[in-house]
Amino acid sequence: MTDSTNDLRSKYLTLIKDVADEAALEDLRVQAVGKKGEISLQMRSLGKMTPEERQVAGPALNALKDEVNAALNARKASLADTALEERLAAEWLDVTLPGRGRPTGTIHPVSQVWEELTAIFANLGFSVAEGPQIESDWYNFDALNMPGHHSARAEMDTFYMARADGDNRPPHVLRTHTSPVQIRSLEQQGAPIRIIAPGRVYRSDYDQTHTPMFHQIEGLALDRDISMAHLKWTLEQMAAAFFEVDEVEVRFRASHFPFTEPSAEIDFRCSWVDGQLKLGEGDDWLEAGGSGMVHPKVLENAGVDSTQWQGFAFGLGIDRLAMLKYGIPDLRAFFDSDLRWMRHYGFTPLDQPNLHGGLSR
Ligand code: PHE
Repeated sequence: MTDSTNDLRSKYLTLIKDVADEAALEDLRVQAVGKKGEISLQMRSLGKMTPEERQVAGPALNALKDEVNAALNARKASLADTALEERLAAEWLDVTLPGRGRPTGTIHPVSQVWEELTAIFANLGFSVAEGPQIESDWYNFDALNMPGHHSARAEMDTFYMARADGDNRPPHVLRTHTSPVQIRSLEQQGAPIRIIAPGRVYRSDYDQTHTPMFHQIEGLALDRDISMAHLKWTLEQMAAAFFEVDEVEVRFRASHFPFTEPSAEIDFRCSWVDGQLKLGEGDDWLEAGGSGMVHPKVLENAGVDSTQWQGFAFGLGIDRLAMLKYGIPDLRAFFDSDLRWMRHYGFTPLDQPNLHGGLSR
């Protein structure tokens, strides 16, 4: 190769290597091997050379032209690749949705059972009623036919609220049961009525199955001809739905509550095998709560004509039902706010209990 072809070679190979884009590369091509390009002009000048000079310069220029053309083509391809990559990067679009994170919180078994029972009773035509947790002694006791001297009052381990000095009115109490909601609902709605009242109640008591705060669900159904038979059927329906079995036999045990007459403890037929509870079979009975026909005095206290209306009431322990259904041994742990316990016994927040989807899935 001659000196001048060598110079041309390194000049164009460097320019080609450093060129910025395809337009500039095209300019370079014209400048080097276009009709009037530097290398083309050199080749045209071969005619003016002596045959000896031409024999050296000719092949050298041809080889140079081929090499520059090859470099131009290679560079053109690589510029096109880079341009495509840049375009793809600029036009990139994330069409995926962000993944749904697993919720870290869980639903407390009490809330779960509360919702389950609400769904069951809603299906039977009961609506949800509420009352205050700080209650007057009228609603918690007197209106429910438990006057001041009544022994049942003492049995309830009541928490009394303090009154201001010199205020001699009877103290308010933390309600000891959900039964005062019977009175409040009757005052508001009158008869006929069909309500449940799930809520917190308070008694001064603490052991493996008692905590000072716990939960009850009250039921009340009044109409012109409601009987104990309706009560029993309602409880059978509730028990079968709640324990997710076909049938549960209900047994009434004679009992006494000041606000019902007659009164009955509610038992569900069950079996305990290897510490496992099964409802609706076996020879054992599970105590579930109290019930009875609403006492006429209670109806009158709530402004309901007891010669026209009658019906049943019941009270069930929500926490106890949760312990039994989900095999939770110690009630006290319910209210320890221990996250490990919550993860173990808690429920997925997005699964709402309902009768068609399955209560406890
Ligand atoms: N209130 C009663 C209790 O807490 C339960 C009950 C409710 C009994 C309604 C009869 C009727 O023990």
